[in-house]
Amino acid sequence: MPITKAILTGGGRATRLRPITTTLNKHLIPLAGKPMIFYAIEKAVEAGITEIFINTNPGDTQLAAAVGNGERWGISITYFEQPGGPQGIAHVVNAAKKFVGRDSFMFYLSDNIILNSLAPLFKKFESENLDCLLALSKVDDPTRFGVPQFNAAGELSDVIEKPAVPPSNFAVTGIYVYRSSFFKAFKHIEKSARGEYEISSIHSYLLKEGYQVGYEEITGWWKDTGQPQDLITLNHLLLDQKPTQEFFCASPVSQTVRQGDKVALGRNVHIGQNVKLNSPLIIEDNCQLENCSIGPYVTVGQNSTIKQASLRESIVFGGCRLEAAVNINQSILGQATTIIPHHEGDFQRLVVGDQTLIEL
Ligand code: G1P
Repeated sequence: MPITKAILTGGGRATRLRPITTTLNKHLIPLAGKPMIFYAIEKAVEAGITEIFINTNPGDTQLAAAVGNGERWGISITYFEQPGGPQGIAHVVNAAKKFVGRDSFMFYLSDNIILNSLAPLFKKFESENLDCLLALSKVDDPTRFGVPQFNAAGELSDVIEKPAVPPSNFAVTGIYVYRSSFFKAFKHIEKSARGEYEISSIHSYLLKEGYQVGYEEITGWWKDTGQPQDLITLNHLLLDQKPTQEFFCASPVSQTVRQGDKVALGRNVHIGQNVKLNSPLIIEDNCQLENCSIGPYVTVGQNSTIKQASLRESIVFGGCRLEAAVNINQSILGQATTIIPHHEGDFQRLVVGDQTLIEL
């Protein structure tokens, strides 16, 4: 039976990405011009998934409004909340039991972004008749992740969540395939010290009880977006990966302004004098540009104005007004950020929100 159902995460507090996530669901952060969760959905659809179930924070309507019912991908998307609110990611899966029934399914943490196809994971799960398949990736610092432990014979023997001393240099990524034995395992696990039903506790249980747990190393890059720097890195990688033919200019731009092939301009983008656009970059609808240099690796949301500034390797959300002679690099500017000159005296004037980071 091919795998056609997937559970995706769409909730969580995303405290490490504040202040960006104070007003925006993390899964909607734009990366290379698309909300983050779209990448998870597109990978799932490409591998044959036709029904997706996404958990949302209690009362959140932002996510469903932005993602929709799946029509645009020719699939169905259903949203659900966890009874009693967030209690860990294993609890998310258990809350979706009624949707998956007795079928095998994929569970995908939507803040994980991968380059290659999910299809080899599904193939291995089926050909080896597994109960659970873990997608692994080599990382420099496994202490932030679930980490697999192998015995002397090189077989997977346990999975340890965020170990102080990692038993291997692999991370268990947020991409899992399960049979309905998941729900049996859930009945036997306890909350961890941080008050969550950990997904690694499921894997420990399945291994201890002799279920078939396999793994596959992910080929190509894999990134989870825990920190602001990860968003900038991903924006870069995704712009690199996006095929040149998907960059097109819906507003007129001269060859002297546009440096390189990967320049996308939305509708009604007004380009004034002395503008340099360095590929790759995406500028959305209704932006005003003048005396500025943008790119490489920049995305600018709609209705933004950029004058005098120079920007590279950055994500600029919509409605921003950057009109000062500043050089911005490796930055994220949230919705409607304003940077303008201040002419009174030799000092800066700031009105900044909670948990803002400014490096001068
Ligand atoms: C979660 C899982 C962890 C996994 C990681 C992958 O951690 O608990 O086992 O390695 O996702 O992204 P979290 O990001 O919730 O800290």
